[in-house]
Amino acid sequence: MCQKFLSKHHLLANQYQARDILAAFLDEMKRGLAGQPSSLAMIPSYVSVPEEAPQDEKIVVLDAGGTHFRTAVVRFDRDSVPRMDYFADHPMPGVTAEVSREEFFDLIVDYLRPALRESRRLGFCFSYPALIDPQRDGKLLCWTKEIKAPGVVGERILANLSRALERRGLERPANMVILNDTVASLLAGVTATGFSPEYNYLGFILGTGTNTAYIESNARIKKAPGLPAHESMAINCESANFNKLDRGDIDLALDRTTSSPSQYIFEKMISGAYLGSLCSRVLQAAAEEGVVSRTANALVEKLETLGTPFLGDILAGAPESESAFADEAGQERETVRTILSEVVERAAVLTACNVAAPIVNLAEAGSRKKKYCVCADGSVFYRLHSFRERAEKHLTEILKPYGVEYKIAQVEDAPLIGAAVAGLVA
Ligand code: BGC
Repeated sequence: MCQKFLSKHHLLANQYQARDILAAFLDEMKRGLAGQPSSLAMIPSYVSVPEEAPQDEKIVVLDAGGTHFRTAVVRFDRDSVPRMDYFADHPMPGVTAEVSREEFFDLIVDYLRPALRESRRLGFCFSYPALIDPQRDGKLLCWTKEIKAPGVVGERILANLSRALERRGLERPANMVILNDTVASLLAGVTATGFSPEYNYLGFILGTGTNTAYIESNARIKKAPGLPAHESMAINCESANFNKLDRGDIDLALDRTTSSPSQYIFEKMISGAYLGSLCSRVLQAAAEEGVVSRTANALVEKLETLGTPFLGDILAGAPESESAFADEAGQERETVRTILSEVVERAAVLTACNVAAPIVNLAEAGSRKKKYCVCADGSVFYRLHSFRERAEKHLTEILKPYGVEYKIAQVEDAPLIGAAVAGLVA
């Protein structure tokens, strides 16, 4: 009964064939690089992999994430180890209430101000789709992760930040660079291998949102013909918007309630901003169809409000979730776990395809390097019960035919460290 329910709503992981999804990903990547219509924006970052660590210079770094906005001052010591001299954590503007363009940038100035005097350099890690120009400012294409600041869409982030600083009589840093969080993560991975040239580097995020970045040779970035042909740069795939997938009716219903219906549908099936709500809706449907009884109601509500961490508690059988089941739940516990576990398994398959796509793209393009360092960041990947193991199992399986080796690198504060590298040397 449970399997029939999952299958009917297109929630079974084996209804998503990795080989087909990977092929569609590769096709969309090529189209995106060629400037043809594609769900993958494949945004050039104008950042490449540095050969060595920056030396003993401070930089102010900002990290606009899905829920948090972090400010820090970072420097690499004489042994190339990153050190953090200052750190502050604030809510991301526009997460809870809508803010105007001015309010958005004024808040960032408030967050930045205590660190501003520490350095004339600024690295800004920005976890949203932004078109980067060769001067390394970025124009916001759209908000994702339900951020409410419509006036910022279409705006150049660093130019606006400079104006906001001027309005407050503050001097703008002389040297500023903006980069996507996946590109920052990729660069953090380079610090984790001691700047080893042996690897192809990838950045991967699965937290509030999801995405990948990798290093592409300029000659293959057909939509930007003037680039030095023998060099390479990081590409932000914006894979959260991948849309060559059949979804079920519950996915479609959730999508309709978001601030960007039909956009970023891949992310809505797997990332932390949506997974709790999705599971809540799945359980609601299961209750309506008699697959679980009404005892699931408390879980439905809690999943909606507490989101992905609560989903993890249910899967792990943590006391916080056990008390939400009615005493008489009995067998129902298992049914609920089977259903939710399958939604997570589906997310793991899709995540494996997401990470595999840039690796296979490079392998098929004849990359001489067979070793891949995937610097992964994000709460869902590391903290959602059993997720990492599941995703890695699928990734290993998908990559088998390609004769490559990969390792996952976990770098503390990867977005901040990577933004520091970009601002100091990349
Ligand atoms: C954004 C990406 C970002 C990813 C991970 C997505 O919603 O569009 O730019 O890299 O989340 O934070």
